[in-house]
Amino acid sequence: MSGAPEPVAEPTPVAEPTPVAEPVEASAVVRAASPAPGIGAVEIVHGEALDVARTLPDSAFTLIYLDPPFNTGRTQERHVVSSRRADRPADTTQEIPDAGEPGSAESRGTNTDGTPDLLRSVPGREVNHGFHGHRYERVRELLHAYDDRFDDYGDFLMPRLEEAWRLLADDGTLYLHLDYREAHYAKVMLDAVFGRECFLNEIIWAYDYGAKPRTRWPTKHDTILVYVKTPGGHVFNVDDVEREPYMAPSLVSAAKRERGKLPTDVWWHTIVPTTGREKTGYPTQKPEGILRRIVQASSRRGDRVLDLFAGSGTTGAVASALGRDALLVDVSSEAVRVMRERIPHATVQEP
Ligand SMILES: C[S@@+](CC[C@H](N)C(=O)[O-])C[C@H]1O[C@@H](n2cnc3c(N)ncnc32)[C@H](O)[C@@H]1O
Repeated sequence: MSGAPEPVAEPTPVAEPTPVAEPVEASAVVRAASPAPGIGAVEIVHGEALDVARTLPDSAFTLIYLDPPFNTGRTQERHVVSSRRADRPADTTQEIPDAGEPGSAESRGTNTDGTPDLLRSVPGREVNHGFHGHRYERVRELLHAYDDRFDDYGDFLMPRLEEAWRLLADDGTLYLHLDYREAHYAKVMLDAVFGRECFLNEIIWAYDYGAKPRTRWPTKHDTILVYVKTPGGHVFNVDDVEREPYMAPSLVSAAKRERGKLPTDVWWHTIVPTTGREKTGYPTQKPEGILRRIVQASSRRGDRVLDLFAGSGTTGAVASALGRDALLVDVSSEAVRVMRERIPHATVQEP
């Protein structure tokens, strides 16, 4: 989840230059139009993410977008199944040794900067799908030593990430939308679930809205971590991505200016405008422009898209408008109400 979407305060009237023109067009899908039969169908399921995910078949989705609630805390633990795997039999992969244990420094893999790679169990061998056996548990212990808030967050998120991995098609991509307080923990979890080689991008969504503290750099970005199921075998429709204006248009040819540039991993985009057509009133609603870019790049017409924390249904509204089928899950009755209204052609499954 992001800190961005809930416009709690009036915009600070600070005159400051926007770094680039808004490259992602603010959008237009308020009420998603009825789809052509079989394309752009939307199903809303009122239920808990993990419970619903476990009912879905393997490899069913080309794109999964997750925008989970920020650090859910202990209250969530009551209805989630813990991700702790220590009670499972270890698989054949060697466990990560403790720092300082014999053989830990040199025999363990290292990152390119020479620091130890916690997720590499033996030299030259990446740990894929580290939730098997004890490996994720070991990482979890190490993280706990630094910050025990990881426990609650990890217990909530990890089993849902495992399910996301299972549900992704071989050419599929996961986008995990986070705020700055969670991104580093989630990166470790995703490396464990997918394998580091499946990390595709860290996208920074930068915006500029709300109050600005005077004692630190105002935090005005969300992080979207992107992982693929099969490195190199994933869908990425580079030619379908809407291009954006060059930051220094005078430095490029007229033809290039006209075409615009391919977006990088930093996306400047406003939050959902408080008075715009796109606004549903749902507090954590994400902009359609952000989702449109994700859906265009990482799925094709007719593909299936999943959002397990669907909120106001932005993913489904955009996916449907672009001819993808979408499955939207949310545990909140209010979210389901908003989605019904926003996507009138959706079917709704109540518990
Ligand atoms: C950050 S919001 C998602 C906003 C969404 N991306 C949008 O554009 O509107 C997170 C959503 O997760 C839902 N949620 C929280 N815990 C959940 C759970 N365990 N299972 C399913 N949904 C959950 C909340 O009801 C909330 O709507």
